Amino acid sequence: MGKTLRLGVNIDHVATIRNARGIAHPDPIRAARMAAEAGADGITAHLREDRRHISDDDIERLSAQIDLPLNFEMAATEEMLAIALRYRPHAACIVPEKRQEITTEGGLDAHGGENHLRRHVDEMGKAGIRVSLFIDPEPAQLWAAKRLGAPVVELHTGCYAEAGADTWAAELGRLCDAAELAAELGLECHAGHGLSYDNVGPVAAIANLKELNIGHFLIGEAIFGGLDSAIKRMRALMDKARAEAAGCRSA
Ligand code: PXP
Repeated sequence: MGKTLRLGVNIDHVATIRNARGIAHPDPIRAARMAAEAGADGITAHLREDRRHISDDDIERLSAQIDLPLNFEMAATEEMLAIALRYRPHAACIVPEKRQEITTEGGLDAHGGENHLRRHVDEMGKAGIRVSLFIDPEPAQLWAAKRLGAPVVELHTGCYAEAGADTWAAELGRLCDAAELAAELGLECHAGHGLSYDNVGPVAAIANLKELNIGHFLIGEAIFGGLDSAIKRMRALMDKARAEAAGCRSA
């Protein structure tokens, strides 16, 4: 790979469009292949409990047909643990899941849910899966990830992405501080949710981040200019921000 900041492309919403018609087109596995050709470093897919986008068959075909590292987002349930252990993706990101939510609304409460999460982290880790916890950028959550032995955390960037002019700098600062604490704790740090051309730069400039996972914006943008072009432009914005990075306010 060789790039300092990896881009994981989340293909869920190709499946959302396919499922709206209940037919096979557009195929998220074809999108994963295109993402690989466009320079993605990994493919991310969220198998939700209600199967609203990615299906079990998608997971099977991704596992069989895609050479890039796969990152399966999943809730900490017995069903999802069994699926992760069956397919053994490169990585699994444990996310909170509520049936009624439109998308993942906030980070996982790793701090409050340590007892429940421990076996999931342990069993996937023993199976060679790189376990990540999708958490809000809060010290208590990072410390809980450390205690759980998860090698990776993914910071939820939703509050940053939705912040107005008055809170934007503070939200960016929380991400910087959390990425710095993750590095101190020896946790690999990723980030994602709500990232777009307009807001990716300051996040990509956080030197302690190793990977961004981006989905909705890229798939939406692909309608206008194609997936290849959307991914290449995002990749270029990430690389430019990383090259010009002046560091975090807290660094
Ligand atoms: N990372 C995680 C853990 C997520 O749950 C999501 C949303 O599914 C993303 C990244 C990507 O977010 P978005 O689709 O807003 O780019």
